[in-house]
Amino acid sequence: MYDDIGEILFTEEEIAEIVRNMGRQISEDYKGKNLFMVSVLKGSLPFMADLMREITIPCTIDFLSVSSYGSGTKTSGEVRILKDLDASLEGKDLLVVEDILDSGVTLSYLLKNLSARNPSSIRLCTFLDKPERRRVDVHADYVGASVPDKFIVGYGLDYAEKYRNVPYIGVLKPEIYATEEE
Ligand code: IMP
Ligand code: MG
Repeated sequence: MYDDIGEILFTEEEIAEIVRNMGRQISEDYKGKNLFMVSVLKGSLPFMADLMREITIPCTIDFLSVSSYGSGTKTSGEVRILKDLDASLEGKDLLVVEDILDSGVTLSYLLKNLSARNPSSIRLCTFLDKPERRRVDVHADYVGASVPDKFIVGYGLDYAEKYRNVPYIGVLKPEIYATEEE
């Protein structure tokens, strides 16, 4: 599994440091608010678990799951909610937690859908941002790090559901998905 990963972009230590800083900032910004963290499964699972433990104010959490990719490396542009939230968003200060902001298609759909449910506020927190690939205008309020336009795996990010358990973040060797058409 580790042999399929070329360049390492962020080590476990670097990830921890970035998440610590994000947690500190969010704790400050949401003081006295009704922080409700929503993790977009499955990719943001490790990030969510780490980030919530760096947050020093009360918060509640939930999960939702969307699909837009199939098993490939390119977005299909189609978004479906596979698992929705358990409760209403009314009066909550919603923080959407994502693994990576790529074309923006998924998050633009999701933010529209969630805003319509009348939260008190809504912000977006993404661990990684791939700005070169943006197709839809989506603004992230908290960004851990920007990454180049390469296919990235580890720390929750997958290729065909694999590599999510790699504890660091790296670039998948192109020969691993070379058979896929552009
Ligand atoms: P968007 O709709 O193109 O912004 O897609 C966002 C989603 O695509 C992320 O939540 C990831 O699940 C997936 N994704 C985008 N880029 C990568 C990548 O480099 N590696 C793994 N998954 C990715
Ligand atoms: Mg994802």
